[in-house]
Amino acid sequence: MRVSLRVNGVEAEADCWEGESLLFALREKLGYPGSKNACEQGECGSCSVLLDGTLVCACLVLAAQADGHDVTTVEGLAEGERLHRVQKAFVEAGAVQCGFCTPGLVVASVDLLDRSPHPSDDEIREALSGNLCRCTGYEKIFDAVRLAARDGSG
Ligand code: FES
Ligand code: FES
Repeated sequence: MRVSLRVNGVEAEADCWEGESLLFALREKLGYPGSKNACEQGECGSCSVLLDGTLVCACLVLAAQADGHDVTTVEGLAEGERLHRVQKAFVEAGAVQCGFCTPGLVVASVDLLDRSPHPSDDEIREALSGNLCRCTGYEKIFDAVRLAARDGSG
């Protein structure tokens, strides 16, 4: 089937089979490899994207379900060379080691700060609970979210 959607504001089309995930279509057919595929079971959050502004695991959404909808991936957050403040904060806080979890964590953090510009630590913990990182121990990730929240209020 032909799937038509908007990715990061750009019209896109792909031929997909009925059971194909949005993650597969994004990475393998549409040229957006930023969302990572670590588990393909909705467990790790590395594939997090915004579907019509709602945070979803792209591995659990069918490409067909995105037909006619807007998808924002991690590639859509920066403006040209200018990183999104959350991306910048992850770099500045040293919250990236292997980086495999980072795109999903960045998208989930952007979603959190859109909903709650000054989140408490409990809110951060809750919002990022679906995103697994095996490298950092999470403390620097929390620092990055706090830093991005501060940058957003300046
Ligand atoms: S790849 Fe989608 S949640 Fe892990
Ligand atoms: S930085 Fe390696 S999994 Fe998070």
